Amino acid sequence: MDEYIIKGGTPLVGDVTIGGAKNAALAILATAIMTDETVVIDNLPAVRDIKAMLDAIDSIGGHVDMLDDHTAKINGSSINDMCVDNEYIKKIRASYYFIGAMLGKYKNATVPLPGGCNIGSRPIDLHIKGFEALGAEVDISHGLISVKADRLVGAHIYLDKVSVGATINVMMAAAMAEGKTVIENAAKEPHVVDVANCLNSMGANIRGAGTDVIRINGVEKLHATNYSIIPDQIEAGTFMLAAAATRGDVTLKNVIPKHLEAITAKLLEIGCEVHEMDDSVRVVASKRLKHTQITTLPYPGFPTDMQPQMTVVLALSEGTSIVTENIFENRFKYVDELTKMGASIKVESNIAIISGVERYTGAHVSSPDLRAGAALVIAGLTAEGITEVDDIYYIERGYENFPEKLTGLGAKIEKVSSDKEITKFKLSVS
Ligand code: EPZ
Repeated sequence: MDEYIIKGGTPLVGDVTIGGAKNAALAILATAIMTDETVVIDNLPAVRDIKAMLDAIDSIGGHVDMLDDHTAKINGSSINDMCVDNEYIKKIRASYYFIGAMLGKYKNATVPLPGGCNIGSRPIDLHIKGFEALGAEVDISHGLISVKADRLVGAHIYLDKVSVGATINVMMAAAMAEGKTVIENAAKEPHVVDVANCLNSMGANIRGAGTDVIRINGVEKLHATNYSIIPDQIEAGTFMLAAAATRGDVTLKNVIPKHLEAITAKLLEIGCEVHEMDDSVRVVASKRLKHTQITTLPYPGFPTDMQPQMTVVLALSEGTSIVTENIFENRFKYVDELTKMGASIKVESNIAIISGVERYTGAHVSSPDLRAGAALVIAGLTAEGITEVDDIYYIERGYENFPEKLTGLGAKIEKVSSDKEITKFKLSVS
């Protein structure tokens, strides 16, 4: 029954160091098996999803050594199984990156279909379209997707929708196809660029990552590399909004301010101070914040992974705000939980109409998914009284040492797993 218990009302003050980007790391770990040489990846976030991906590499015969909590040494030469077991895809959708990686290297892969999740149906039709365009035969049966190709030949691929996963998966397969591939309408997220940079450090020839046209000249082999993951844009954004919600003064270290521009712009708009330095950002909020409008869009637009956290801040801001979720069809599930804490939000299809309230009151709430769980923690940090957030398994998938980092900023939060510990916490903060 692990949960976070929070005594709200303390402004967050101080410095916090941001870890490596989970969504870059998951894909980069898949690229690591595209060579028979040794790859060392550092600045990995020590979170459940990364552990699951490393376990999946081990399960198909790859060799994984953890040099420390944040550094993995991987060698794919001993891989002997082209089929990724279902238990890994059930834990993390990103196991589907094995398809692009293994199709590129082995021209063969079988991975369980990832299926939907709490934020939407999440199809992979665009991934399949890209693989078929490169010459792969794709078969879906018994809940598995199998891809194989005698030869992979470069192609001109237009992605009907901007898709991070499809862009990365097709880029990986095309990196070892024969000839030139062009991916049009590509996703431009920082983690797409990070994957391209890692592949290029392994000898790939990829140009244009970060724009909507990526050009790839396939190569026969990839080689060893030592690669460091970029800072996590979403973990950083989450702490920026926690500072804003608690009217605090927080400096985030080890960030790339450019990756945070959409979040910074909105924080300035609602009345925060944001100071950008080379590799850090300071957020100060001294008064009640103002309403605004948010529309989630592919990068460089406002990230969908920051939508729940921003809604929590806007539901405390004066006036009426509107949040439009354009990426996933079911990403407002947490609003019912936030309502238990006093929020006044009306959801109509993919739009949330938010009437700002003065304060939240503590309640027992459940995390419906990773980012919504983090958002509910932010709400608890500002609420009057005690908040209990359960189903924290989701939060631990993507946030390393979340309670510890918040405690380091003055928050009163603990991970507890028994009524006795809950009572002890309540006594300690009363
Ligand atoms: C990645 O998911 C991230 N996950 C998500 O972060 C993030 O929300 C999302 O990108 C958007 O930025 C990882 O990187 C592991 P998409 P992904 O393909 O790749 C539709 C988190 O909290 N689509 O960019 O699955 C899809 O349904 C997670 O860390 C198709 O229609 O997202 C969605 O509406 C949550 N067909 C839109 O495109 C496809 O073949 C964008 O999805 C693929 C996607």
